[in-house]
Amino acid sequence: MIAHEKQDKPDNANRLDGMKQGVLGKPVSRLDGLAKVTGTALYAAEYPVQDCAEGVLITATITRGVVNAIDKKAALAMPGVIAVIDDPRLTTRAAQGTADEAPQQNPARVDYWGQPIALVVAETFEQARHAAKHIVVDYGEEINPPLDPETAKTEEQTEETISQGDLDAAMRDAAHSVDVTIRTKGHASAAMEPHAAIASWDGDDLTVHASLQMLNYNITELADALGIREQHIRLIARYVGGGFGSKLGVSEEVVAAAIAAEQIGRPVRVVMTRQQVFETIMRRSESKQRLRLAVDAAGKMTGFGHHALVSNLPGEDFAEPILQSSHFLYAGENRELKLELARVHMMTAGSVRAPGEAVGMPALEVAMDMLAERSGIDPVKLRLMNIPDKDPEKGIPFSSHTLADCLNQGAEAFGWNKTIRTPRHTREGEWWVGTGMASAARVHNVMEAKARVTLKADGTAVVETDMTDIGTGTYTIAAQVVGEMLGLAPDRVLVDLGDSRHPRGPGSGGSWGAPSIGSALYVACKAIREELAERLGVDEPELALRDGKAASGTSLVEVLDGKDIAKIGHYEPGAIAEDFTASGFGAFFAQVRVNHFTGETRVDRMLGAFGFGRVLNDKTARSQCLGGITWSIGTALTEALEFDGRDGHLVNRDLAEYHVPVNRDVPELDVIMVEERDGAASPIQAKGIGELGMCGGAAAIANAIYNASGARVLEFPMTPDRVI
Ligand code: MOS
Repeated sequence: MIAHEKQDKPDNANRLDGMKQGVLGKPVSRLDGLAKVTGTALYAAEYPVQDCAEGVLITATITRGVVNAIDKKAALAMPGVIAVIDDPRLTTRAAQGTADEAPQQNPARVDYWGQPIALVVAETFEQARHAAKHIVVDYGEEINPPLDPETAKTEEQTEETISQGDLDAAMRDAAHSVDVTIRTKGHASAAMEPHAAIASWDGDDLTVHASLQMLNYNITELADALGIREQHIRLIARYVGGGFGSKLGVSEEVVAAAIAAEQIGRPVRVVMTRQQVFETIMRRSESKQRLRLAVDAAGKMTGFGHHALVSNLPGEDFAEPILQSSHFLYAGENRELKLELARVHMMTAGSVRAPGEAVGMPALEVAMDMLAERSGIDPVKLRLMNIPDKDPEKGIPFSSHTLADCLNQGAEAFGWNKTIRTPRHTREGEWWVGTGMASAARVHNVMEAKARVTLKADGTAVVETDMTDIGTGTYTIAAQVVGEMLGLAPDRVLVDLGDSRHPRGPGSGGSWGAPSIGSALYVACKAIREELAERLGVDEPELALRDGKAASGTSLVEVLDGKDIAKIGHYEPGAIAEDFTASGFGAFFAQVRVNHFTGETRVDRMLGAFGFGRVLNDKTARSQCLGGITWSIGTALTEALEFDGRDGHLVNRDLAEYHVPVNRDVPELDVIMVEERDGAASPIQAKGIGELGMCGGAAAIANAIYNASGARVLEFPMTPDRVI
């Protein structure tokens, strides 16, 4: 086990630096890539399971009320139908792993349109789907639910509230100030692979193939939801076709499949339709954000205010953490930050792709652009001037800080100094052309993690952990960390992920996957190295391993002498958050064109410069940044959940109506990875990467829209109707 010990400054010397195997950091192509592109990688619903019945979920078509009765008669008489299941464990929101509620009794309560209430099980999917249409639900009387966050009852999230100095006075005395309210729409998680599960029982033991991000935690949730012990559950998720937060917790397809399989004594598969994923799983909350920023005549920030309103269902804990990076990104001694949660009956709000900063940073960075214009200071310069040297609220140091480097390197590569800051400066035919920029920030998280590494007698290595790879490259970086430390090429390391029988990893979420699992592997490999060093009669730090051999020329196979060495690495983050504020930083630069007649915006080019600690794999890290910037384009221009104001049902519940950027919307993107090592962030000096690329990028586009067209739009996404 390793924990971060109290230290005055980040420890940037580490064993991985000394080894120089040339494995870590290299742009190794995904080890799972071939299996994925050739279709041999099995996703949850694809496992060949004998005698498997098919389940189709029935979801509520009211917003708030109770299910008095479900008339199953017609459905049960239809060909192939085996059962209609309305077990109360299925209808409770606890099945979604979000609400901490006791299982409901019948009549089941409905809290949102789209909430699963029953499952039809049949021999074939088509039979189940057909029968589902013949289920008659008697909902009783519908209760008029609050649906508008701006008028609903709110609760202050006191742990997010900060009041320091006197912001009102700072605003009054400011040489320049901005007081602006910006709104963002809700987002769908929209992972490519829909939620799916196959459950089978063997006596008391349950095996579920599912599409999940955090097996370590999901196994506990599922045990709770079913009322059985964890020891009886095995979860398998070797390949996951994206999660974006929607698979952090178990949801109804998993619980329903398990209940149904138990009841009918056969394996059951449940795959959500795209529409069900959209209206049932979770949403990113919409937000209303008031930014108050004050500077003195020189542009030094004196006041910083960020007040956000988000929403969730009654009883749900999660409140989109809008202010996460606002707490430390810019200086300003007079500070007021407040987060409020409105209670509405739209589906559960939860973690979706960079919860918090994905929408908090775009709003803040639009306000910063307005402040730059008002103070007559270049936007890059204004940000450079206001980088605090320590956390402005907690007074603790940053583990490392790359914002200035990102701003400078990004501006240089983009040619920022050549841009014109007066709006409507360039017109090409129908199009106004302009540029904008924004800072990026995303808090760095690490989680407790365990992994087993076995150095096999044949000189290969095996990694075993329940950690998942949700398309991010975990298989590959795991092989690289182990390869670096044990002197093996990555293809000599077999990585076995996504099985809850293995040691519990950190799961994939919040960008903590790579730094957390990488650190557990580091600890395991260090223990193996110590044993090898002892056998070879050298000190572990001096043990140089390369291509399966020690520096003396002795091969690992000889040293191992027919026996494996297996070690479990246990990484515990300890008190890192108390000693340091750790964050990834970055800067975005965008050029857009806005159509004079239609208000349509096209992104011409976009660049992101990011600092996130050590790069474990140049290719997968870069891909994460490219993906993040692409989501920034979606946040800026197209993504918006549209709820019907009368009943709270989601109107655009598929990828035809909910628009994510497609190939045609994404220009050539440039990524600069600013070199840094952050020894306080994790033992392997890496920070989270996955989400940083979408934390602020939308503001670079919004600011470019303003620079191009003169339209200062205060609502994301900036669709043509809002821009024109
Ligand atoms: Mo992420 S939204 O924490 O999977």
